[in-house]
This record gives sequence, structure tokens and C-alpha cells, in this order.
Amino acid sequence: MDPKLPPMCGIVGYVGPQSALEVVMAGLKRLEYRGYDSAGVAVLADGGLAAAKKAGKLLNLEKELDGKPLPTGTTGIGHTRWATHGGPTDSNAHPHIDNAGRVAVVHNGIIENFALLRFELEERGHELASETDTEVVAHLLAEEFSSCADLAEAMRLVCRRLEGAFTLVAVHADEPDVVVGARRNSPLVVGVGEGEAFLASDVAAFIAHTRSAIELGQDQVVELRRDGVTVTGFDGRPADVRSYHVDWDASAAEKGGYDYFMLKEIAEQPKAVADTLLGRIDGSGSMTLDEVRIPAGVLREIDKVVIVACGTAFHAGMIAKYAIEHWTRLPCEVELASEFRYRDPILDAQTLVIAISQSGETMDTLMALRHAREQGSKVLAICNTNGSTIPRESDAVLYTHAGPEVAVASTKAFLTQLVACYLVALYLGQVRGTKWGDEIRAVIRDLSSISGAVEQVLGTMEPVRELARTLASKNTVLFLGRHVGYPVALEGALKLKELAYMHAEGFAAGELKHGPIALIEEDLPVVVVVPSPRGRSVLHDKIVSNIQEIRARGARTIVIAEEGDEAVVPYADHLIRVPVTPTLLQPLVATVPLQVFACELATARGNEVDQPRNLAKSVTVE
Ligand code: M6R
Repeated sequence: MDPKLPPMCGIVGYVGPQSALEVVMAGLKRLEYRGYDSAGVAVLADGGLAAAKKAGKLLNLEKELDGKPLPTGTTGIGHTRWATHGGPTDSNAHPHIDNAGRVAVVHNGIIENFALLRFELEERGHELASETDTEVVAHLLAEEFSSCADLAEAMRLVCRRLEGAFTLVAVHADEPDVVVGARRNSPLVVGVGEGEAFLASDVAAFIAHTRSAIELGQDQVVELRRDGVTVTGFDGRPADVRSYHVDWDASAAEKGGYDYFMLKEIAEQPKAVADTLLGRIDGSGSMTLDEVRIPAGVLREIDKVVIVACGTAFHAGMIAKYAIEHWTRLPCEVELASEFRYRDPILDAQTLVIAISQSGETMDTLMALRHAREQGSKVLAICNTNGSTIPRESDAVLYTHAGPEVAVASTKAFLTQLVACYLVALYLGQVRGTKWGDEIRAVIRDLSSISGAVEQVLGTMEPVRELARTLASKNTVLFLGRHVGYPVALEGALKLKELAYMHAEGFAAGELKHGPIALIEEDLPVVVVVPSPRGRSVLHDKIVSNIQEIRARGARTIVIAEEGDEAVVPYADHLIRVPVTPTLLQPLVATVPLQVFACELATARGNEVDQPRNLAKSVTVE
């Protein structure tokens, strides 16, 4: 497999009074969204170490364990893999174990200097059984442990020799009540319970046991024992850590009666939107964004905004540009985070960089913000994951309150990112005096009514589902939009690609005549996001012409238009109505049918909705 493909993997570690296997397997179930190429577990029991691992989904490992149960132990680790170095086979699955069978390790990330380390280990007589970069760590830990007899110290010594991004979690049979973790550039959080402790890539893995968590910083090693947790730097010095309370409960990370997490997350959007506004508007309807710790004086000096993000978050950024420029008159650029630093962007202390990320761990976005900070720019993160790396490394953060998003396809995170972007744009307008208080209050009133509008859209989705089912055998769907409808079209196409594995492309409708119109043929489904006929009616009229042009060439038009927009009726083969909303806010309602459409098409085509092929939820290397 191409080593440049993005790994993420889910990791769990446990020490306490419970059956480690049960705790770890339950945790892995919650983390399977992070990778599903293989899974494995190791437990310490009866003075030794026992492990099982299997290619494929967690279900395969469960079957393996049913046939060959592991001995019961109370210390264990587990892993669910998104393959990078070495294909998704049993032998490449984690945990990896040293030759003496005493140490087991799981890993998320890429160890860039593994080839040299492997060569050196083989020279010293070690036999490596897999093609992974991870296995070298098991052997190195075994070597170091043989001299220091302390797994945490062995981990510190090994980490100093590793290059790349890694989260490691290990156990050693000679320290039966200890789990050790290490973190550089990949997520790892600690859960602290009564007489037990947990390590995981995401709090979802231990939320059923404790809501008390500790953030680990860069280059830190954590030692878990039943009676406490010790955190140091790779250099062994005690580290400062931040404890926090996870403000959602176990049910938030369960399907709650829905067939898929994606369906549940689509349905949660009205609440997610409302929650993201909560506490940010005072009694008089004005904004209180106290979390934006960048002083007003600094924000007044800003002369440019640059937004960096990937995938769906990038589409949120594209929409934010319209609001920021319109409400603040500041120039705003939006850039794919993966492209950003390589073009030597012009950044300085007068640039405000906004990094948008659901997971807070996307490596491309993280690298972009680090580059921006190196150039002296202030970085504001918009993020859904408390304590993740991107907000930690930013000057300020505005959290979206979507709750955990488990399905790989982003839905509620997108809508809440939009809400957060609108809030930031208004806040800039307020601080810089480009928007009057009553204007801000008017937008806030509109934003406050969006939750109900999204609810209304969700109540009218059956015809969209029916339509999607009739298109299951199509190969291509095109999406058109103008103004803020253009990023919505891109988002609709992205959802369809990742879920239905169909060729889907989004275009700015005005670009059609410059090439893409050649793609139109008989019965080709084309989804058109129509701007409101009010306000910017020129755009509306132009897109109605675009619909006529493609229909004249045989396209099957699927039109998303505001209630009361009668001009589109004669040209719509299928009409999807959305509530009347101010133009800039329309993406909050217009995106929802596209999410439902993609989800239903994926189901109709027999695809796995929550775990689309080749993907993972957060992408933790470049
Ligand atoms: O966690 P992030 O928001 O940084 O993730 C960015 C993209 O990887 C993500 O939005 C991706 O495009 C989604 N799977 C799309 O549904």
C-alpha cells in the first residue's frame, strides 16, 4: 500500500480491575471508524502475554477470539488498523510482539526511519515477522527494557530514536499492571477512572467508564497504573497536563436505533446547530465570543483572513469567505491545507488564519497552521474535538458543539462549522465596526431560526430517498451551484463520491459554458442548488437559464430551490424544496438533502455507509 496514504488507526489501552479484553474490545468497537483493515488485542495474564489479531473488520477478530479465547487479564491493549506500511494481513495487524514474546505494542502514525532501525535490529539478530514500520518498536522496547527494567523509561529511550508521527501504546509481561503510551503528532487521550485508567485515540473508547480525561501534549510519555497516571516528556522531566471533563455521554457515541451513525448524525443536525450557538449570544441578542482570546486590538489590525482546511471543512471555509468578505470587507482566501505551505503563502502578523477541522487532528491542516504561526500570523481554530492537536496549537479556538461524529462522511460537523464561521465573521464585523449592532442581531436572529429550518428539511426527505434509489445504477451525477451554492455543490459531490463510489463533480454553474456542458447527455442526473430569488435575483435568473440549457441537452434536472420559487418549476424534473433563508445562510439548509441523497444512494448500491472503502475518519499524516 502506498505509504503516503493517510493512516489513522484506533488505539486502546486499559489497566484496572475489569477484564481488559472486554474493555479493550468494547473500546475498539467505538474506534472502528478510524480504520477497519485489521484488528488485534494483547492482554497480560498468568505472568505472560497473550495476543490475537486478524485481518479485516473487528468482527473477524471477535470470531477468532470465540474460537480461541485469550486468558483473562486486567491489563491490555488493542488496535484497529488503517493500513500503510504492509498490506492488511494477519501478520501486519497490530499488536506487534518482540521475539521473546514479552512486549506488545500498537501504533498509529508512520515511523519514517523504520527501515534503518529494522536493518540495525536484524544486524543484532532480531527476527522481524511483518512488513510494518511498527514492529521495530516492539524489538527496541524489548532491548531497552532488558537494561532498565522500566517500560516507561524504555519507551522514552525508544521515542528519542524515532522519526515521524506516532502514537504508541505498549505493555510488558514483566510489568503486569502497567500500560505505557507515547505521543508525537497523533492523538492520544487518557481516561482516569476509580482504580482504573485508559488510553485511547479518542474519548469515545472509554466514555462508558469515565468522563474524566487528560490531554497529552507533544512528545510526552504516560505511564498508567491502577492508582494513577504519570506523564513526562521524552526527556523524562515531569510534564504539565490539562485535565478536562468530557461533556457528552456514552449514548452520544452510539447509533441510538438508527441503522447507521450517518443517519443519526444527519438527524442530530438541528440540535448540533442550536448547541453551537448556545452561550454565544447574550440576553440582548449580541455576540459573546469570549473564547476568541485574540485581543480585539489585534483583530482590528488584521488586514487579511486566510482559511485552511481539508475536504468538507474546506467547503465550510469556502462558504465562510462569502460571509467574511461581505460582513467585514476584509479580503479572505481559502486554501486546501495540503497545498498551503508549499506555495510560500504571504503571511504576517496582520494575517488571521482560520483552521477548520472536525477532528482537530488532520495533519495537512495542522502543518498549515504551524507554518502560519511560524510566519507570525494568529491562528484561530474551529474544531469539534476538545483537547485535540489543532486547537492546542492555535492561538484561540471556537469549538463547534456537534458532539462526536463517528460516520466517516461529515454531516453535522459541516453544519456546525458553518455556524461557527458565521459567528467569527460577525464577531470580526463587531470588533472592527463594519457591522452595526442591530445588523448583527438580525443575522443572529436568522441563525437562531436555522435549527428549526433544518428540522423542517429533515421532515421532507422521503421523496429524496425515493429519487436516490431510482438512480442507483447511474455512473455519474453532476452538481451545480452559484455563489454560496457552489461550495454546496462541491460538498454534494464529495458526499456522493465517498459514499456511493460514483463519479460526481461539482461546478460553479457559470463555468458550465466553459467546458463542463460537454458532459451533459441524455438522462444524466444534474443536481442544481438554486440561490434565493430574493436579494441577489440576478444570480437566480442566471442559474434558471443554466437549468434550461442543460435540460435542453437531455439532463435530468434535480433542483433544490427555496419555497415559493416558482420560476424553477417548469424546468425541474425533480424539485426539492428548502425553507426560505437569507442567501448567505442557505447552505445550512441546502446541504441537508444532499447528505440524505448520498446516504440513500450508498445504501441502494450496497455500500457500507459509515465506513466507506479506502477512507478513515481523520487523516493524521500528510
Ligand atoms: O477532521 P477534519 O474536519 O479536519 O477532516 C477533514 C476531511 O478529511 C473530512 O472533512 C473529509 O473530507 C470527510 N470524510 C468528508 O465527508
